[in-house]
Amino acid sequence: EKGGYDYFMLKEIAEQPKAVADTLLGRIDGSGSLRLDEVRIPASVLREVDKVVIVACGTAFHAGLIAKYAIEHWTRIPCEVELASEFRYRDPILDQQTLVIAISQSGETMDTLMALRHAREQGAKVLAICNTNGSTIPRESDAVLYTHAGPEVAVASTKAFLTQLVACYLVALYLGQVRGTKYGDEIRDVVCDLSEMPGAVERVLGTMEPVRELARSLAPKGTVLFLGRHVGYPVALEGALKLKELAYMHAEGFAAGELKHGPIALIEEDLPVVVVVPSPRGRSVLHDKIVSNIQEIRARGARTIVIAEEGDEAVVPYADHLVRVPVTPTLLQPLVATVPLQVFACELATARGNEVDQPRNLAKSVTVE
Ligand code: BG6
Repeated sequence: EKGGYDYFMLKEIAEQPKAVADTLLGRIDGSGSLRLDEVRIPASVLREVDKVVIVACGTAFHAGLIAKYAIEHWTRIPCEVELASEFRYRDPILDQQTLVIAISQSGETMDTLMALRHAREQGAKVLAICNTNGSTIPRESDAVLYTHAGPEVAVASTKAFLTQLVACYLVALYLGQVRGTKYGDEIRDVVCDLSEMPGAVERVLGTMEPVRELARSLAPKGTVLFLGRHVGYPVALEGALKLKELAYMHAEGFAAGELKHGPIALIEEDLPVVVVVPSPRGRSVLHDKIVSNIQEIRARGARTIVIAEEGDEAVVPYADHLVRVPVTPTLLQPLVATVPLQVFACELATARGNEVDQPRNLAKSVTVE
């Protein structure tokens, strides 16, 4: 049932191009418009939404953090993202014009369920993004957009995460389409770019051998840091989470801009630091700033592991290890940039002799608060 792989996690990482394709299937029409009729919240209601609140836990929370960038950019609706376990205990401000998006692979996570119950009690509409048909979270929501990752067995989420991102992009673009914004042309372009993503993920998977080799060489290390900016920041958080879950290593993700406000004090000789670099096109200011961050940490002895777009030459002089990802629109980069981090964590866990599919102390779905 592992399809020839040693671990479910490896199989699920390899299934990501198909999972992404399946989650897009039937949701984009021939003219490049989104068809999300299955989201049974009427367009008239979606047009009135004045705030989006995303609630989720763990890896799904990281998908939500990325969704915020997409939703605010394409729809101009303010969006908050909150850990489901914190949400209802702080008396959040919700009403009929609030759209709450609950993201959950299993559909059974108690923290997320309690958050959405609270939201509905306050009159908010709840849309679930979920991978498990008929599970509790979609049943208790006003609407659901299913991710089509197929069953995910490994405790650490991989393909479900990528499909959660796809679903979030679809919702963001759909909200933009329904409401009409100045980004109409960009929305149409990105809808087309989405169909290129399964191929892009496949290409990344084909280039992972050096990443595996690097991971094995880092097995004796105690700490790995992850830096990113913009949507690369949640990717850094996800890379660090994967490493904690699987390799039981101290790993932290930081926003690269925060480096000088504290984390730079952690940099010491030969400390591995993974940096997720945004595209040099589009938001090029961010790119330039992160290149300076890489220079700064390298000057202080860090071993830099740089994830950068194909053709980005500016990073080359400062990268001890360079991992290339395909060119994508800025907001879609997490779909390709996350993959090397999954492979990295999985290989490090194996090299450290850890149980990859069933990490210690963790459960696939946590059904207590
Ligand atoms: C956990 C899992 O505790 O729940 C994580 O170990 C997962 O991998 C998190 O991200 C949230 O789960 P779900 O099913 O709500 O997406």
